Amino acid sequence: MNSFNLPGFWVVIPAAGVGSRMRADRPKQYLRLGGRCIIEHTLDCFLEHPQLKGLVVCLAADDPYWHDIPCARDVRIQRALGGLERSDSVLNGLQHLVELGAAEDDWVLVHDAARPNLAREDLDKLLGELADDAVGGLLAVPARDTLKRAGADGRVLETVDRSVIWQAYTPQMFRLGMLRQALAAALAAGVAITDEASAVEWAGFLPRLIEGRADNLKITRPEDLQWLEQRWRNF
Ligand code: CTP
Ligand code: MG
Repeated sequence: MNSFNLPGFWVVIPAAGVGSRMRADRPKQYLRLGGRCIIEHTLDCFLEHPQLKGLVVCLAADDPYWHDIPCARDVRIQRALGGLERSDSVLNGLQHLVELGAAEDDWVLVHDAARPNLAREDLDKLLGELADDAVGGLLAVPARDTLKRAGADGRVLETVDRSVIWQAYTPQMFRLGMLRQALAAALAAGVAITDEASAVEWAGFLPRLIEGRADNLKITRPEDLQWLEQRWRNF
């Protein structure tokens, strides 16, 4: 599909995490990949899209790194304050979109700062498949390996049917009003929310799974960064 026929959309990039599993000297979104910071590559996935209405990045209050990267001077990028959990950061970002004039039924895509390898074809697939959807959905990847449920002693309890298991990726695409309400209500109820879809599910809706590429991985551990460095070098 031609990108110009896709729906308009806003983007929220939560980037206020500390990256503890990465065990680096700074939050992982500021580690170098192919000569630039990871977050710069992530922002690039969206900035040139013709249907982009605006983009908000959620940063930690004491973030000393953002101001030193070229993106900090890009007028297309708005900033919001991060929160204690990812869901708090996202909620702040959504609030900022309201202040920018986003409407209740506008589409919002939430995408991890630490996921720099989103292909344009996946982004356009998500936008195209969900353009007329009543709920919204997310990029996801079907489980590949045989799955085991573990018991307390580290032994296999059973083999799980892999055909119904998917890994949740981002972007996750929902209407601004519905997502804000679902996230706020889930947080107020003390429900553990690890992605936007879980808040939407908790509110009683059924997000659609859109199959995406497995290489849209989130940099979580050192080996993820090594893997992506290697892959980009060989391109
Ligand atoms: N994030 C955020 N605000 C938080 C926590 C996380 O904006 N309070 C962001 C991270 O910056 C990241 C995305 O949410 O872009 C996905 O979270 P995750 O991979 O868990 O990142 P970290 O929390 O930074 O890493 P870790 O869990 O290993 O500490
Ligand atoms: Mg985390």
